[in-house]
Amino acid sequence: MSKAQSSQSPRQSVPKIRARKGGEPLVCLTAYTTAMAEILGPHVDLFIVGDSVGNVFYGYDSTLPVSLETMILHAQAVMRAKPQALVVVDLPFGSYEASKEQALASAVRVLKETGADAVKLEGGQSQAETIAFLAARAIPVMGHVGLLPQSTRILGGYKLAGRDRADWPRILADAKAVDSAGAFAIVVEKTVGELAADITRQVTAPTIGIGASNVCDGQVLVIDDMLGMFENPARFVRQYANLREAIGKAAKAYADDVRQRRFPAAEESYQAGEPN
Ligand code: KIV
Repeated sequence: MSKAQSSQSPRQSVPKIRARKGGEPLVCLTAYTTAMAEILGPHVDLFIVGDSVGNVFYGYDSTLPVSLETMILHAQAVMRAKPQALVVVDLPFGSYEASKEQALASAVRVLKETGADAVKLEGGQSQAETIAFLAARAIPVMGHVGLLPQSTRILGGYKLAGRDRADWPRILADAKAVDSAGAFAIVVEKTVGELAADITRQVTAPTIGIGASNVCDGQVLVIDDMLGMFENPARFVRQYANLREAIGKAAKAYADDVRQRRFPAAEESYQAGEPN
């Protein structure tokens, strides 16, 4: 981000994000690289450096293989863009579940080594004690309820959370537990609209929906999904660009030019004695 941009708008903060509950919807996207954070920065209130980096960047079929070190490297890359948006970093699978002390050690590493603002962890009632432990130690935590990508092995895939009404009380209780524990915002993933509306009404923290209808206090999408990098995205994704096609066309044009010796042209080549 340029100096001009950074002097335009003050940095987001946890209290400012909290204060947006029920107000103008919060705009959130995932980011994993400096260049992308620079491009997206002026348009978003929050970045999540998601462990979805495992799927979209490293080609894994789940987020489970992602390590804390990988999350820290990508969060550092995002922070190099000096974003005005609040930057939240996912604690990856295996970095917080063993104990609240393990969660604290992981969260402290993330905040110290990246300069990011907050961490996110998945889970409801089972993680409430951990969230309260971190929040009491000045670590801002974003909760994540509904579909939990780190639990897809046990859930049997990326299934709609709350498809059966019988599951609604449990999911609502998860959101309330995370809220009471002190989460400053809560991601609600792939959940039916009525349940997302109940959650949003009954928690004090802003809810950030992904596949959870337009009733939440904000929305997030995985950046590569939103830009159309993948075929057959989930139904809740709106593709605002088709980068997969655009990149394929650009690669074909480049390959044709190289094969026909149209690239590089004279203006893209150097002559003896030219300035550097
Ligand atoms: O990893 C991720 O991208 C997420 C999104 C739901 C924000 O957790």
